[in-house]
Amino acid sequence: MAMRSASASSLLLPLLLSASVSISILVAAQAAGDETALLEFKAAAVISGGHGDDPHASWNSSSVGGFCSWEGIRCGARRRRVVALSLPVYGLAGTLSPAIGNLTFLRVLNLTFNWFQGNIPASIDRLVRLKTLDLSYNKLNGELPANLSSCVSLLFLTLSNNHLHGRIPVELGHRLTDLQKLWLGNNSFSGNIPASLANMSALYSLDLTTNHFEGPVPPELGSIGGLRFLYLYENKLSGVLPHSLYNLSRLQVFSIDSNSLSGTIPSNIGDRLPSIRTLNFGYNKFHGTIPPSLSNISALMFLQLALNSFSGRVPPTLGRLKGLVTLNLFDNKLESSDREGWEFMKMLANCSQLRTLYIDNNSFSGQLPSSVASLSTTLRNLFLGNNRISGFIPSDIGNLVGLQVLAIMNIPISGGIPESIGRLQNMAALYLYNTSLSGFIPLQNMAAFLTQLNTLALYNDNLEGPIPASLGNLKNLFILDLSAQKLNGSVPREVFKLPALSYILNLSHNSLSRPLPTGVGSLANLNALFLSGNQLSGNIPDSIGNCKSLELLLLDQNSFEGRVPRSLENF
Ligand SMILES: *[C@@H]1O[C@H](CO)[C@@H](O)[C@H](O)[C@H]1NC(C)=O
Ligand SMILES: *[C@@H]1O[C@H](CO)[C@@H](O)[C@H](O)[C@H]1NC(C)=O
Ligand SMILES: *[C@@H]1O[C@H](CO)[C@@H](O)[C@H](O)[C@H]1NC(C)=O
Ligand SMILES: *[C@@H]1O[C@H](CO)[C@@H](O)[C@H](O)[C@H]1NC(C)=O
Ligand SMILES: *[C@@H]1O[C@H](CO)[C@@H](O)[C@H](O)[C@H]1NC(C)=O
Ligand SMILES: *[C@@H]1O[C@H](CO)[C@@H](O)[C@H](O)[C@H]1NC(C)=O
Ligand SMILES: *[C@@H]1O[C@H](CO)[C@@H](O)[C@H](O)[C@H]1NC(C)=O
Ligand SMILES: *[C@@H]1O[C@H](CO)[C@@H](O)[C@H](O)[C@H]1NC(C)=O
Ligand SMILES: *[C@@H]1O[C@H](CO)[C@@H](O)[C@H](O)[C@H]1NC(C)=O
Ligand SMILES: *[C@@H]1O[C@H](CO)[C@@H](O)[C@H](O)[C@H]1NC(C)=O
Ligand SMILES: *[C@@H]1O[C@H](CO)[C@@H](O)[C@H](O)[C@H]1NC(C)=O
Ligand SMILES: *[C@@H]1O[C@H](CO)[C@@H](O)[C@H](O)[C@H]1NC(C)=O
Repeated sequence: MAMRSASASSLLLPLLLSASVSISILVAAQAAGDETALLEFKAAAVISGGHGDDPHASWNSSSVGGFCSWEGIRCGARRRRVVALSLPVYGLAGTLSPAIGNLTFLRVLNLTFNWFQGNIPASIDRLVRLKTLDLSYNKLNGELPANLSSCVSLLFLTLSNNHLHGRIPVELGHRLTDLQKLWLGNNSFSGNIPASLANMSALYSLDLTTNHFEGPVPPELGSIGGLRFLYLYENKLSGVLPHSLYNLSRLQVFSIDSNSLSGTIPSNIGDRLPSIRTLNFGYNKFHGTIPPSLSNISALMFLQLALNSFSGRVPPTLGRLKGLVTLNLFDNKLESSDREGWEFMKMLANCSQLRTLYIDNNSFSGQLPSSVASLSTTLRNLFLGNNRISGFIPSDIGNLVGLQVLAIMNIPISGGIPESIGRLQNMAALYLYNTSLSGFIPLQNMAAFLTQLNTLALYNDNLEGPIPASLGNLKNLFILDLSAQKLNGSVPREVFKLPALSYILNLSHNSLSRPLPTGVGSLANLNALFLSGNQLSGNIPDSIGNCKSLELLLLDQNSFEGRVPRSLENF
């Protein structure tokens, strides 16, 4: 470093032409201005932990090599002006000094993942050479400086994850016409999305998620031909989604969920958006049918249309989407009264990557097709509840070895619980409630496999017979609800040895009899114990007082006798 500055001055000194001298004096003065600005930047920033090293340790006017050798600084070769100030993830707090506006040769300002607060200084408008401005993941507040649009060279503007508010200045779109990436997500911006953004014709990624933007999506956005990533989710956008957006033929991610947008999806979406990987229209007010042409988008992995008013049938051709991972259709008005209406389930068997299938809370009816058991073994989440589906759970449901959550509730499905369910070794939560399922709980031999199970919600069906003692093998169970069935016999002592049981044990409204095992006191972490409405008899074991975490205890409508245990007196 010493060598470099010595040789720089020895090159300058022999040049005695007056013009060169005055230029080099000017250059030197401007460079000195950069140093002053950097020292002001340093003075306004404070180190606050982060990864520990103080980047400013090297920021010292007497340091060998000058400010161009300071950590995080890069200078241009010719003029020795600062062209990059990059201190990402340094645990810097404090404020951004307005002096950075004096670093007029800056091309990169990257301070992402720090703790800076306060405003973005208005002086930033002097950085006309700035190409990258990344202040994301800080604690900046205030509004965007009106003259940010003077930074006309900007290519990447990422201010996401701050506390910025106010509107996007209209001028931004008019003047930052080279911008390629605009990320303002996770702030508190409000107002309309300005149509002028459409003038950013080089934009390929626009992220305005998780703000308070309101009003319509400007149809002009449909003219940003190169847009590949459009994220508008979690705002208050409303009105009909303009069909011009379906002109964005290079879109890969189209994510607008959690707004109040309405309208229909055009039937030719498959031809117009052939590169979509993620289509997320959930939590809006869309209606109409799911266009079969979606099946032509071979890249589609994530299709989320939940919480809308889509109606009609699910196109069976969706089964052509070989890469489909998520099909999320819950809370719509989709139907399937006959065999044809259920054809999609058969076809989905060809989606060999499918992990999530949510069709709950719709108007599906008729018999559950046995093809549900032929879905990919990659399937993790299957939700069928809140429909009018009848018929049976196919006996080979146990083929779906990847299942982690199976939810079949509030539907009039009948028959028994197939024994093969016991083979689902990855199952974490099993919800089979408010159905017409009958027969015994088929866990006698299988509980050994369901070792991951943490939630077993089997209530309000027509199940009968004993509570299987093998339930005691479910070492991870923290919710056990077997209420409102016709279970009889005694409560097996194994139930009270379940080591993880902490949230609720609900055995109420069955026909359980005989005294409660003294082992009940082992449930030291249990919050709620409901045993009402059985024929339990004998004394309430004194050990129940050992259930130190109990907040709710219901023992009414039983045949208990004797006194309430003294251990419960402080309950
Ligand atoms: C600069 O560095 C010198 C020697 O390393 C040290 O004595 C001096 O206190 C430092 N100055 C500042 C302002 O940190
Ligand atoms: C910018 O530099 C000028 C001198 O060139 C100086 O007068 C001014 O105070 C500096 N601005 C800031 C905000 O430091
Ligand atoms: C800023 O720096 C971080 C960390 O090196 C990097 O991941 C990020 O891409 C940079 N920002 C931009 C806009 O280049
Ligand atoms: C923005 O810049 C213009 C000139 O380009 C200037 O007249 C105006 O005062 C600036 N506004 C602010 C708020 O700095
Ligand atoms: C949004 O930003 C806040 C901090 O400003 C952070 O805690 C939160 O995790 C961020 N959310 C996302 C989705 O990035
Ligand atoms: C784009 O900018 C021009 C002027 O720069 C303006 O006339 C036009 O309305 C702008 N387009 C949009 C969509 O704002
Ligand atoms: C889509 O683009 C074509 C030309 O590329 C244009 O004719 C048509 O009007 C556009 N559609 C919408 C809805 O903007
Ligand atoms: C899918 O694409 C083919 C060929 O481009 C076309 O013939 C067919 O009509 C499309 N299917 C749908 C449902 O749009
Ligand atoms: C699955 O795909 C194969 C080959 O692509 C095809 O022959 C078969 O009919 C498809 N099955 C279903 C159920 O769509
Ligand atoms: C099902 O949808 C109705 C309205 O369509 C809603 O009120 C209800 O909360 C939803 N239920 C579930 C479980 O999502
Ligand atoms: C139970 O399921 C039926 C449909 O089988 C439904 O009509 C009813 O509302 C459900 N009960 C509750 C409490 O959700
Ligand atoms: C429990 O009920 C079944 C019929 O569901 C009956 O066969 C059995 O004898 C009953 N067992 C006891 C212990 O009451």
